[in-house]
Amino acid sequence: MSTRLQGPSNIWITGASSGIGEALTRSLARGGHHLVITGRRAEALEKLRELAPERIQPAVADTTNKEDLAKIAPDLDSDQPLDMAILNAGTCEYLEVDQYSSDVIEANIVTNVLGTARSLDIALPALRRTRAMGRPASLVIVSSSAWWFPFGRAEGYGASKAALSYFAHSLRADLAAEGIDVVVVSPGFVKTPLTDRNDFPMPFRISAEDAAERIVSGLAKGKNEIAFPKRFTWTLKILGSLPGALVDRMAANMARKSSDQQEKTE
Ligand SMILES: NC(=O)c1ccc[n+]([C@@H]2O[C@H](COP(=O)([O-])OP(=O)(O)OC[C@H]3O[C@@H](n4cnc5c(N)ncnc54)[C@H](OP(=O)(O)O)[C@@H]3O)[C@@H](O)[C@H]2O)c1
Repeated sequence: MSTRLQGPSNIWITGASSGIGEALTRSLARGGHHLVITGRRAEALEKLRELAPERIQPAVADTTNKEDLAKIAPDLDSDQPLDMAILNAGTCEYLEVDQYSSDVIEANIVTNVLGTARSLDIALPALRRTRAMGRPASLVIVSSSAWWFPFGRAEGYGASKAALSYFAHSLRADLAAEGIDVVVVSPGFVKTPLTDRNDFPMPFRISAEDAAERIVSGLAKGKNEIAFPKRFTWTLKILGSLPGALVDRMAANMARKSSDQQEKTE
């Protein structure tokens, strides 16, 4: 039986200023937890603080910037030990292959991989202090299911999330001996400002509130892998396990259809 989120917990959430992170903040605030919320937009974080001013502490930082992170490090466990860090901040930049630029790859890798790795510079010492007190500690990394199938235009995003998932699973192996849980969250499409920019069909897209409830419920049940919605993630798993040549053909067909559709709408 998991003890996660059973009592009031102290939780750091990155990428709290919109989308899934904002919905997680609202849900966990309703659950009576103490939250330290991070993003670059101070105004959005201040607005969220109004939900429970005594239990929500904004900590403005760019998660790709080590100095910003060092400044907010004391906030993570200034009031109480850090029970959970939810590293959710992320971006999605698509590549237009006819205008190939490695800048697109870099933008995804810097925010999604390095930003998460740098956030851990300050989260891990705090989680270790919690473990030293004999309390449970969890690290939650929001990755994606997008990299389970080679989608066109997703070279940068998919590569960043594949790297992030590997990073998380490898950390899980190393941190097991210390008793720090590592949870990997792999959402399908979720309606947020990030996907509102997409100009292609997003099958089985769910709301940010629904995504947050699935994450909170998975965490409370003690799950270390949280993937949703199942209709989407199972479809991707089945497609991805087909013979390589078939996957390549399907992926190329989908990429061609998507670029034809884009040309039509331009
Ligand atoms: N939406 C989906 O369909 C979907 C699917 C799978 C996975 N995900 C993942 O879920 C996470 C949240 O995405 P979302 O859809 O909720 O997107 P979103 O609404 O655009 O939110 C992204 C959040 O990340 C923060 N952020 C971005 N870069 C940052 C940086 N350098 N420093 C600090 N904070 C930064 C943003 O805050 P500021 O702008 O205030 O900095 C914002 O709060 C991402 O990791 C994304 O890859 C989303």
